Amino acid sequence: MDMGGLPAANPVWVGSSELTMTLDGIVACVDAGAGAVVAKSVNESAAARRQLDIADYAFVSGDRQVRPPGQAYLGDGLLNRSGLAQVDLDDWLGTLAAGVAHGAARDCPVVGSITLGDPAAAARIGRALAAVVPAVELNIGAPHGREARAVRQLTEVEGVTSAVRTVRAAVDVPLFVKLPGQASDVVALARAARSAGADAVGLVGRYPGFLPDLDGGAVLGSWGAWSSPGCLPMSLYWVSKAFTALDAPIIGTNGARTATDVLRFLASGARAVEVVTALWIGGPAVLRELVDGVSGVGDDFVGSALAGTREYADVPALPSPAWLPYTARWMSSGR
Ligand SMILES: Cc1cc2nc3c(=O)[nH]c(=O)nc-3n(C[C@H](O)[C@H](O)[C@H](O)COP(=O)(O)O)c2cc1C
Repeated sequence: MDMGGLPAANPVWVGSSELTMTLDGIVACVDAGAGAVVAKSVNESAAARRQLDIADYAFVSGDRQVRPPGQAYLGDGLLNRSGLAQVDLDDWLGTLAAGVAHGAARDCPVVGSITLGDPAAAARIGRALAAVVPAVELNIGAPHGREARAVRQLTEVEGVTSAVRTVRAAVDVPLFVKLPGQASDVVALARAARSAGADAVGLVGRYPGFLPDLDGGAVLGSWGAWSSPGCLPMSLYWVSKAFTALDAPIIGTNGARTATDVLRFLASGARAVEVVTALWIGGPAVLRELVDGVSGVGDDFVGSALAGTREYADVPALPSPAWLPYTARWMSSGR
């Protein structure tokens, strides 16, 4: 498969996270069969690196119980704080070069990643990464951007256009731009990123979240980033809308836990899917399961769900009111 000029082994990609923050982690993802591996993000900010010292993770069950540390199940949500890789850029380039060489032997590209702080600094880092990696991902949608000044979340067209243009001018390999899920018009942001030179857009970033523990505090003691299997339709909303509106390759992310979820991303218009939480929970076996689940799926499957999807105005009247089964209990008794 091809993503904006980057050939990849298959559509199941490992997204950027602490799992891809070391050479060992990157190699493990390549060896487990990833289509591509996105390395942990870096940027210029010492504060963003320090933020990793307070990284914390709460896996939350379907009935909102916080799991004990180290325990997690595939249906759980994840509320977390995270920071960026605590590495010197030159050392990081060495790590990436080794990861790229390992991946290349298995047709698995290792992609460099920047989470936006200052656009000019992102351009400098992007230029350095591009000398080593076959593609760069620029994350301008980090949910932590709402809490921490060390990283930024851009939700307006002008800001997206200007930041992407600045980084694009410095990066001479495919540039992917990962956008926030929390903006009034994510398709407009994707269009802006594409017009400013993005070769593909990543849809969508996780959401800010908050969960009281009811002991007078909050889970993690702060706000955090939230994702859960329930986020899937929210991600697919923007993937499908962008597929319909734009001529831009789409990398889906946020909410894929099973092979069926990955297929739903593809049917909504994504050409590849970046997965993280499911891999933290289930390890390499889950990655292999996802890759097996999409083997044999052709390019024509991408966006196939849109063929049978209508605007509200075009949906024909239903034979009987669909709400009746839900309201019947109230109408027949209990008053
Ligand atoms: C612990 C953790 C750390 C992450 N760190 C980064 C990061 O440094 N850069 C980035 O672009 N995305 C980062 N992400 C976002 C993921 O790459 C991915 O887009 C997101 O988790 C949604 O996919 P999922 O539902 O499969 O987890 C992180 C996610 C998690 C859970």
